[in-house]
Amino acid sequence: MHKTAALITATLLAGRGAEALPMTPLANPNPVPAYCPFTQTKFLPFYNSGNKEWTDAPTLSISVNGIPLIATMDTGSTGIVIDSKYGFNTTYLTSKCTIGHVFYTSSHWLQEGYWCDTDVNVGGVVTSALALIRTNEVCCPAFSDSNENHRCPTADREKACVCKGTCTSAASQSALTRRATGDEDEDEEDGEDIATIEARQTTTVGKAYMGIGFARGNPPTHNLFMNIKSIDGVSVVDSSKFRTGYVINSTGVWLGITKANTAGFKAVKLNLREGSTESRDWGEPPCDVQINNGTWATGTFLADTGIPNAYVKGDVSHKEGNEITIRIPNPSTPFGEVGFLSVPKAKSGTIGTNNPVQPTWVGTRSILGVNTGRKFYNGYDLYFDGDGGYFGLRKKSN
Ligand SMILES: *[C@@H]1O[C@H](CO)[C@@H](O)[C@H](O)[C@H]1NC(C)=O
Ligand SMILES: *[C@@H]1O[C@H](CO)[C@@H](O)[C@H](O)[C@H]1NC(C)=O
Ligand SMILES: *[C@@H]1O[C@H](CO)[C@@H](O)[C@H](O)[C@H]1NC(C)=O
Repeated sequence: MHKTAALITATLLAGRGAEALPMTPLANPNPVPAYCPFTQTKFLPFYNSGNKEWTDAPTLSISVNGIPLIATMDTGSTGIVIDSKYGFNTTYLTSKCTIGHVFYTSSHWLQEGYWCDTDVNVGGVVTSALALIRTNEVCCPAFSDSNENHRCPTADREKACVCKGTCTSAASQSALTRRATGDEDEDEEDGEDIATIEARQTTTVGKAYMGIGFARGNPPTHNLFMNIKSIDGVSVVDSSKFRTGYVINSTGVWLGITKANTAGFKAVKLNLREGSTESRDWGEPPCDVQINNGTWATGTFLADTGIPNAYVKGDVSHKEGNEITIRIPNPSTPFGEVGFLSVPKAKSGTIGTNNPVQPTWVGTRSILGVNTGRKFYNGYDLYFDGDGGYFGLRKKSN
């Protein structure tokens, strides 16, 4: 009895002490988990590190089969397409991989290839994912994703040369410069952006498009940042010191979550993606959207490094000049908040340009919530805990 009473008193005292200190975890409704045991991590500076205002998509220097490539780092998709000319021969593809394809229904470009578990070295971090090794790219207007042959029928292939409008310049539509997957309505071509990336790259270095986002269609097996094997030669597989995940700031990305690289963040627990059968297949974090001081509408949040524009859906449709406010994870205790104006695509880049988080233009999202596009990273650093399912933000100090 005496012991119990003492315990209760101690608990009450502890509680009272905490109330007096507003900065304790009790006062923060969105603490990051205790990451103390995790120390294996590496910071990879972006290849285009001069891109400080997030004008372009971030790129990383990677290598495949010992061949250096420049890869776009896209949080808005999951998966990677690599050209077979980077060290993959027919014997290897037909014996070790599974025939497959990626088809873009809006542009009609068909990427023919093989699904292969492929090791990729990202700046000393060796990781692996189920990648599409592309053997051919063809405009195939009549192709259907249910085609069990995974190849464009010869008759349709011939139509490619008269393909109107939808299959434009092969250079700007190439799978190596665009997403392997993604929602059609959020995957409109941004020719300007792709041209900029291509112009920056020398002709001697090839390129790849690396989708490392979560809740974007493909499961974690397709995600290079979810299957890390070693860092600078030290294995992280089954390591109690490694926590899968990443931290993105304006100059690069940390692979591996630690207490130090998540300092100053606030976080929300993620749910598994609806209908998912994989244990680390996390869904998008929650947010609320308000149009012109109207009602808060609850939806989901994405900060897509692949696009400079945004897609928003609130309780009413937004029109040019409307004020759009986003709070993450909810309107009452947000740890992230951004505001920007609705801009039609025709006026891209002309409105609200003094606001660092203003997207170039704002389309309508297919689901409630927001895809802020990459300008969001001018306001916040972002982290994703892939093992534990946490998503966090840290407001930039400047
Ligand atoms: C094909 O690729 C595999 C794996 O890289 C390699 O071991 C093999 O020697 C290659 N074969 C030919 C004929 O180049
Ligand atoms: C991003 O993080 C790296 C590693 O901690 C740091 O060196 C760099 O200054 C950070 N960049 C910005 C813009 O905060
Ligand atoms: C929204 O509310 C803010 C603060 O009260 C005000 O400054 C702003 O003009 C309002 N915007 C609209 C579109 O009503």
